[in-house]
Amino acid sequence: MTHISVIGCGYLGAVHAAAMASVGHTVIGVDTDTQKLQKLENYQPPFFEPGLAELLEAGQAEQSAGNEGADGTSQRLLFTSDISRAAEASVHFICVGTPQSQDSNAADMTYVNSAINDLMPHLKPGDLVVGKSTVPVGSAAELAKKVAPTGAKLAWNPEFLREGHAVEDTLRPDRIIYGVESGSEDDPAVAILDQVYAHNLRGGEAGAAGEVGVAGEAGAVTPRIVMDYQTAELVKTAANSFLATKISFINAMAELCETAGGDVAVLADAIGMDKRIGRRFLNAGLGFGGGCLPKDIRAFIARADELGVEQAVSFLREVDSINLRRRARMVDLTREALGGDLSGKRIAVLGIAFKPNTDDVRDSPALDVAERLEQAGAQVVITDPEAIENARRRDPELTYAPDLTEALTGADGVVLLTEWPQYKNLDPVAAGELVAQKIIVDGRNVVDRRAYREAGWTVRGLGRQE
Ligand SMILES: NC(=O)c1ccc[n+]([C@@H]2O[C@H](COP(=O)([O-])OP(=O)(O)OC[C@H]3O[C@@H](n4cnc5c(N)ncnc54)[C@H](O)[C@@H]3O)[C@@H](O)[C@H]2O)c1
Repeated sequence: MTHISVIGCGYLGAVHAAAMASVGHTVIGVDTDTQKLQKLENYQPPFFEPGLAELLEAGQAEQSAGNEGADGTSQRLLFTSDISRAAEASVHFICVGTPQSQDSNAADMTYVNSAINDLMPHLKPGDLVVGKSTVPVGSAAELAKKVAPTGAKLAWNPEFLREGHAVEDTLRPDRIIYGVESGSEDDPAVAILDQVYAHNLRGGEAGAAGEVGVAGEAGAVTPRIVMDYQTAELVKTAANSFLATKISFINAMAELCETAGGDVAVLADAIGMDKRIGRRFLNAGLGFGGGCLPKDIRAFIARADELGVEQAVSFLREVDSINLRRRARMVDLTREALGGDLSGKRIAVLGIAFKPNTDDVRDSPALDVAERLEQAGAQVVITDPEAIENARRRDPELTYAPDLTEALTGADGVVLLTEWPQYKNLDPVAAGELVAQKIIVDGRNVVDRRAYREAGWTVRGLGRQE
């Protein structure tokens, strides 16, 4: 078993730390945010993520030696603000944020650089620093040079978890990427990472327990691919760019349907049946948001520009624009549905998180639309099962309702902005008794339009006819 430190315990790091402890490693999680730490030190999730509470609780399990907390007992999983505790570990995961810079599209590398600076005095020869944060191509090679004088090595191991499925994705990822200095299988970092991920790499029927599997090998539970730093960094950015492009592609088709006539949902079903295309990520609607996709495609454009190959990814500018245009269209569609004027209209906003099963509102399309509706003169009343607190912190001026009944009561219109199951499956008959006007604008194209119409509602959706 490996002694691991995890630097940065947000949506990525807290789940990674708890997951690593759950498979038997000894883990010390380090963060600088005292509020977050207060929760983590008590083994409580600092944010909503299904399954994280159970994993953290399991991490409280005592072990016989190592990882002593302030009370002198030894736990499998500990959280602290004291970076010097990382000296006890030999593998150090960097999981800090790389948000969009304040004044440009580029990734802000301040947190990664300061995390490495803070860690450096505690590194020993033979240690491995493992980057998980999403960084611009070229960063890992620079950081490897920086840590070299300590005798430690560096690997880049990008993370692909989806918020809302983070525990499952961390414990059972589709693939594991090792970006290592030599780019080859015999790099010493590979054996260290194989020990960390032994639970994923153990062969199934074809391999004896304890054997590691490599990509494509029969019996390997999770494929792992060894590559150079640059390819590893690009795998993450390319994957996010591809997903963003697929979403914006269908949203561009929605724009066409709105003008030319046509139904984007039927179109998506039809093209999605082509196995080369596939139906996933083809749901037309309000588009993508969150702490990853938008800032990652912008950072990719900025990095390509620095490298002099801006043209190679200039299509991503359009992907971003299509995505942002959907938010304006959602406001226009709501105005149209309410007879051309939003002023003084009470609008129930269902969902404010950037997607269901998370409380994350970073770059949330729902929050953006709610703000635009309010600016257009409407009185929005927002509800969400998990994200109200975070949304209120970002925008305290808006009105929030703790439950659906309060949000729907007396509404002149309903807008569905985040497809939480309880909103998708809302009973139109019961909801119809609460609202003042039975008008719903479905920003995610998820409600049963026929059931709503049968219950007397007017239903509008992005990319669909009335
Ligand atoms: N959230 C996701 O779904 C996801 C998925 C894959 C990759 N990523 C990438 O992972 C990285 C982290 O994302 P996140 O969503 O977890 O961000 P986050 O903001 O939730 O968490 C970052 C954490 O790092 C802490 N931190 C900052 N500087 C520190 C320092 N010097 N020492 C210790 N802690 C420090 C912050 O206090 C914060 O808790 C980003 O690069 C992101 O692009 C995120």
